[in-house]
Amino acid sequence: MSRMLTVDPNEVTIFIDPSRLFSIRLYIWDPAMTYPIHAHGAWGIVSCVAGAIIERKYERIDGGERPGRAEIRELGRNTLRPGETTVVLPLYQGIHSMESASQDSPSISLHLYGRAVRRGYLECFDLHKKTVYKVIPPYLYGRACVLKALGAVREDWAADILEKAAVDKKAYLRYEALRSLAQLDREKALSYLEEEIIKETALKDELAILYKTIKQLSD
Ligand SMILES: [Fe+2]
Repeated sequence: MSRMLTVDPNEVTIFIDPSRLFSIRLYIWDPAMTYPIHAHGAWGIVSCVAGAIIERKYERIDGGERPGRAEIRELGRNTLRPGETTVVLPLYQGIHSMESASQDSPSISLHLYGRAVRRGYLECFDLHKKTVYKVIPPYLYGRACVLKALGAVREDWAADILEKAAVDKKAYLRYEALRSLAQLDREKALSYLEEEIIKETALKDELAILYKTIKQLSD
C-alpha cells in the first residue's frame, strides 16, 4: 500500500513530507538490474542498505539545442556498499545511472530526495545513440502513446480528440497532444501553445521549444 504511482516499479515510498520538502524511498534491485542513465527533478542522497550498487556519473556536453538529442560523457564510477552514500544534484548537474552489482541476491538502496524543481517525468539518456527521452509514470504512459499515435491519423476526429487533450490537467499530456495536433493543424496548435508558454508549468521549457519549432515551420 505504500507504493506511490511513480516511474519506478521497484520503488517503495517510505515517507513524503506533508509540505513536499523531501521524501524517503527504498529501491529494491534484483541481481544485475540496471537503471538507465537519467537526470532527476530533485537533489538526492542515496545510500546502500544491502548488497552492492554501482553508480556511474555523467556530464552533458552538448548545448541541448536539438530536441531529443543529447551527448553525454562518463565522469566516473563508484561501487556503494552498505552504509556508503552518494549525492545527486537536480537536472543536468546530476546525470547518473545505477545498477545492482550483486549477482545472486537483491540489493537495497535508501533515497532521500529534496523538493523537485521539475515534476512529472525523468529524462533518460542513451550514451551511444546520443538521444534523450522522457520517462513518465506508467498510469500516464498509455494515454501519452495514444496521443502520439493520433498525430499520424489525418482525420478531423483525431484533431478533435487532441484538442480536448490539449487542455488536460497533466502538463505532459498537453505537451504530447500539442505535438501531435501540430502535425494535423499547425495554426490551432500554435494558438494553444501561445497560451501555454506564458504559464508556469512543469514543461515550460519544452513547450517553448515546441512553439519555436512549429512557428519556424509555419513562417
Ligand atoms: Fe537517480
